[in-house]
Amino acid sequence: MITKKSNTKRDGFSGKFGIIAAAAGSAVGLGNIWKFPYEAGANGGSAFIIVYILFVVLIGLPVMLSEFIIGRNAQKNVFGAFRAIKPNQKVWGLVGMLGVFVAFIILAFYGTVAGWTVEYLYQSLANNLTGHSAEEYTSMFDEFIKNPYRPVIWQIFFMILTGLIVLVGVKNGIEKSAKIMMPLLLVLLIGLGIKALTLDGAYKGLEFLFYPDFSHFTYKSVLEALGQSFFSLSLGMGTLITYASYVAKDDNIVKTSFIVAGADTFIAILAGIVIFPAVFAFGISPGAGPGLVFVTLPNVFAQIQGGEFFAIAFFLSLTVAALTSSISLLEVIVAYFKEELKIERKFSTIIAVVVISILGVFCTLSFGPLKDFTIFGHTIFDAADFLASNIILPIGGFSIAIFVGWFMDTKEIKAEISSDNMYKIKIYGVYRFLIKYIVPFAILLVFLSSIGII
Ligand code: PHE
Repeated sequence: MITKKSNTKRDGFSGKFGIIAAAAGSAVGLGNIWKFPYEAGANGGSAFIIVYILFVVLIGLPVMLSEFIIGRNAQKNVFGAFRAIKPNQKVWGLVGMLGVFVAFIILAFYGTVAGWTVEYLYQSLANNLTGHSAEEYTSMFDEFIKNPYRPVIWQIFFMILTGLIVLVGVKNGIEKSAKIMMPLLLVLLIGLGIKALTLDGAYKGLEFLFYPDFSHFTYKSVLEALGQSFFSLSLGMGTLITYASYVAKDDNIVKTSFIVAGADTFIAILAGIVIFPAVFAFGISPGAGPGLVFVTLPNVFAQIQGGEFFAIAFFLSLTVAALTSSISLLEVIVAYFKEELKIERKFSTIIAVVVISILGVFCTLSFGPLKDFTIFGHTIFDAADFLASNIILPIGGFSIAIFVGWFMDTKEIKAEISSDNMYKIKIYGVYRFLIKYIVPFAILLVFLSSIGII
């Protein structure tokens, strides 16, 4: 039986808009604006996008709803949640541990790119970001990421900022910052999109985005699309389990899942509409890799009346979008430390930030002094990203699907989905089918085909 009252002992979100803003804040981040365009660019554009959207609908949405079900039902951190729902099956705790572990890895490389974003915010404040040529923007970025100090300093700065917000707690820290900055980012992206569409070459960019070309699309691209859908929606590691544990019992979690997944996908595609016309207009390679946004956008700002101000507003809101994601990752670790290891919030946050910063430095330096140090042919940064996004998150998503689809009590699931019969949920049957059969099977299939077994 689920009580309608929200939990009073734990900190929680204040209302419907609060949870949507926080969950969307977690989902929308560098994954949408930095990673999605360059992944799409490297994997054939529209072909990647079609498969990506298919994964969001068939796999992402059901897994997201499952995380909400688990988290709100258990009202606990990711490890404690699995344990609370199935106290006699201790192995599920391992899925929780994997989530905590991967939070460290993701934050390590996420901090690198967030640090680059802060540098670009700084450069736009110093008015250095307009009035250059396309080549100059490219070399500016290349020089910067190679530097052994500057990116590291910004990365640590960003991690400390993340830690400070998590220290303030859920309602005041996480929710307030998300509510202001997410709408700003959306407005700016729409504005930039309109500008990008007027550039010479815009048409080629749109064609690249929307006209399917499967010739650059391989089995590996399918895995990339799957990993990207988990990464972008913040799934497979308990971020949303942890956030859902702070959600009131009367919130409609089905509706929340649709809104969050919809907003996240919309913003990723919007980012593509901003980037690709500019990529073709300024002769940048769509497969340029992790630097794509940073070398493309300054060209757009340079062309706009008052571009300096656009640049400041853009990099500021991107920094905040990165923050609302990084705090959700850190919260997974801190909630676990606090509730399971009984380390108080403040101390948990400090330990986590120190460890992540140390790991993060290696990711950041892998663009400079550690460039030649590789693991299975990947730099440290790429290896961390690949392991986390393409391997661990899908494994986590698979486990969550098996847990809810095959082990959790259907009465509990129904009660949670309908908020104890408060809402009529028509999609239960579809959800049940997807989570029980399609999601695990599809993830397995993608894995096996990408390692060449099928
Ligand atoms: N979804 C976030 C983004 O797109 C990153 C993230 C991944 C956050 C996993 C939480 C968990 O930037």
